[in-house]
Amino acid sequence: MQNRVYFFDTTLRDGEQSPGATMNLQEKLCLANQLEKLGIDVLEAGFPATSPGDFEAVKTIAEQMDSMQIAGLCRCLEADIDRCWEAIRHAKNPRIHTVLATSPLHMKHKLRKRSEDVLKMIEVGVKHCSAYTDNVEFSAEDASRSDRDFLCRAAETAIRAGARIINIPDTVGYAQPEEFGALIAYVIANTANSDKAIFSVHCHNDLGLGVANTLAALAAGARQAEVTLSGIGERAGNAALEEVVMALTVRKDYFGLTHAIATEQLYPSCRMLALTIGRPIPDNKAIVGANAFAHESGIHQDGMLKHRETYEIMTPQSVGRKQSSLVIGKHSGRNAVRNKFENMGYKLDDAQINVVFEAVKQLADRKKVLHDDDLTALVQEAIHRIPDRYRLRHVSVQSSDCGGVPPTAAVIMDVDGEEKSGAGFGVGPVDALFNVIADMLGQTPELEQYAVTAITGGTDALGEVTVRLRENEFTAMGRGAHPDILVASAKAYVNAMNRLAKKY
Ligand code: KIV
Ligand code: ZN
Repeated sequence: MQNRVYFFDTTLRDGEQSPGATMNLQEKLCLANQLEKLGIDVLEAGFPATSPGDFEAVKTIAEQMDSMQIAGLCRCLEADIDRCWEAIRHAKNPRIHTVLATSPLHMKHKLRKRSEDVLKMIEVGVKHCSAYTDNVEFSAEDASRSDRDFLCRAAETAIRAGARIINIPDTVGYAQPEEFGALIAYVIANTANSDKAIFSVHCHNDLGLGVANTLAALAAGARQAEVTLSGIGERAGNAALEEVVMALTVRKDYFGLTHAIATEQLYPSCRMLALTIGRPIPDNKAIVGANAFAHESGIHQDGMLKHRETYEIMTPQSVGRKQSSLVIGKHSGRNAVRNKFENMGYKLDDAQINVVFEAVKQLADRKKVLHDDDLTALVQEAIHRIPDRYRLRHVSVQSSDCGGVPPTAAVIMDVDGEEKSGAGFGVGPVDALFNVIADMLGQTPELEQYAVTAITGGTDALGEVTVRLRENEFTAMGRGAHPDILVASAKAYVNAMNRLAKKY
């Protein structure tokens, strides 16, 4: 059995199904470029049949990526498969990923089909895929709650019809590691033609076991791991890419498996995702959280000073947690800025470089040295956001203690190209700002989440604010970065309002 593990990233498909993680085309392209740099083998770019927006995103990514295989998801139905192929066909190496449920629960209540009919659908559907390409993956949805022997028959049928990758998903995050490893070993051993396919796993995190189940499956013979950056995904999410990769890397002695991931791109990738979807990485997140390499207790600090390996099993540099030596400041030239962004994974055209260069100069006037995190925030802010209906021009905020005039905000903004101004009060300065903006736009969404983080250390750090707004059943995240956290708050609120307005 070969020892190379293939990484299949589904951040743009399953990850995007995470509430509030919707991304626009520009944002998806930017992440896709970063994932290519990270060394992902297969990128699942979306589910083309679900909407024209998804179709366009998959098609554009398929046309623009160089080395990664590009997969599109489709149900095991001819019309879905045709639409998927139409979206991915111009990729250098396109993959059709088709899915059909195999558990008694799903077959009875969702598909309303008998098991023999499901096998027939697999045969017909996979053959239809194979007429387009020999790079076909079949997923047996809810595999971990399927009958083992029926699962083997489903896999055998799919392989006979032309599938080269068989995915065994733990769709509802129900499996336990030992049990899941045994299931993978059983399916590989009892599917007659299993030697003609690579077995893959796709583990959800409902019981917090997505990564553990994925690793158990790899130890048992699976050779493709379906993962997402920071583990985002449907409900509690998917197995986190960075955790699976680093477990295989740090414990190569245990797993004996290799991969093609450039581990020093893990942190920049997760950071880019966090900025894109406006959801900060939790401090205690393994591998990429702010505290993952912080040593607080005296005993630990003492041990670290004497010998790093006493309390550190990998270096921060190995996962990309380092400030690069090329420092950008107010004296940096256009070429240095271009070079820096290229190294950070951003492909910017000349017009975009001009916008970013101006923004760098403005920020460098306030802040002596710009760190990588400042620059990532800046490029997201300046380039990769949806075209705005509402644009903030100026804000002025007055804080106040309890007596006298309450906290006051005044705002000037463009609304559909027309300048408008407004002023008002609130219980605090942020409340005052949000009240004024909501009033000016004639909307009163519910503020579900408000978070401020300092992007880098020091009192001159860029403040990053994320907000989540709800209007009926629709939610939208917004993000803003600025050295003044009140300005950052106003930007984040307006950004979320733009997303709400576009239902995007
Ligand atoms: O969770 C799941 O079963 C899926 C399939 C489409 C692989 O996302
Ligand atoms: Zn899934």
